[in-house]
Amino acid sequence: MTQFRSVVRGVGSYLPERILTNADLALMVDTSDEWIVQRTGIKERRIAADGEVTSDLALHAARAALKDAGLEPGDIDLIVLATSTPDNTFPATAVAVQAGLGITHGAAFDLQAVCSGFVFAMATADNFLKAGNFRRALVIGAETFSRILDWTDRTTCVLFGDGAGAVVLERVAADEANGAGILTTHLRSDGRHKNKLYVDGGVSSTRSVGYLRMEGREVFRHAVGMITDVIEDAFAATGVDAQSLDWFVPHQANRRIIDASATKLGIAPGKVVMTVDRHGNTSAASIPLALAVAHADGRIKRGDVVLLEAMGGGFTWGSALLRW
Ligand code: UT7
Repeated sequence: MTQFRSVVRGVGSYLPERILTNADLALMVDTSDEWIVQRTGIKERRIAADGEVTSDLALHAARAALKDAGLEPGDIDLIVLATSTPDNTFPATAVAVQAGLGITHGAAFDLQAVCSGFVFAMATADNFLKAGNFRRALVIGAETFSRILDWTDRTTCVLFGDGAGAVVLERVAADEANGAGILTTHLRSDGRHKNKLYVDGGVSSTRSVGYLRMEGREVFRHAVGMITDVIEDAFAATGVDAQSLDWFVPHQANRRIIDASATKLGIAPGKVVMTVDRHGNTSAASIPLALAVAHADGRIKRGDVVLLEAMGGGFTWGSALLRW
């Protein structure tokens, strides 16, 4: 039986036009540029325009990824879209993207693992491609977190932003992949922590949307341990280590969490891709946003070994190790 690999063909991203700086936020709540930069590394975030919905952001990112891959929408037969801020309760935001691209074949669905959504979506698409069910997948992370923020709560509203990123994965016979493709994925969840980062409303509980609530210190306390656990799993499964790794592209939530994780794992600072300063925590969109930057500026090249990692609400956490 043919063994398959899921190989990255292209990556793209999109940020809404409106920039909200730390100085702007200091006019809205009792905070300062100094506090936000020192505690998180965030300098500004983007806010979707009125009427601009998650699928609009996702469509821009998907088109950019297809262009980067040199492919047409019709070449895609699977769309897996990670979001916690869908256009509507249903149908899936993924089908709005599918329709926007003019695709009428294959399958499109959403996946919800909060900030870990993109890693969970990569693992899901990878398994479908490797099983031979689909040929080319768009894996998208897209969010409009500005719509679920309590803009009077300084402990959360300064942290998050809107954006989208997408990757095109292609099924390739393993013996023709030259070692490229997703090497391993490791996903974890522990629902005992579900009340540490959550939205205080929902269809079945309040018939409304609600606002994001977080025990920031508690999330921080668990983050580094969870992140390093799934990365050590990825290293153990492949024999890759901090030295042989080329790029570390973590979920962009907080500079201090990223720095502490890299230090604990022995990953050199020069290998860490950091974009949190320019868009804040965009949840499921943050990894493909960072990937798109490091790919476009020439850092990530064919053959490079790239480590993705995320941790978020649930708690959920996961890693994906791939050769570009
Ligand atoms: O994707 C996963 C999702 N979430 C995360 O990754 C977030 C994880 N947590 C964090 O990143 C950090 O816990 C935060 C950035 C949220 C907070 O940083 P911290 O160093 O843990 O601060 P803290 O919560 O311990 O608060 C320190 C102080 C408090 O004042 P007191 O009690 O010391 O007087 C807060 O009230 O900072 C105060 N504070 C603020 N001050 C100015 C909290 N938010 C703000 C703010 N501006 N925006």
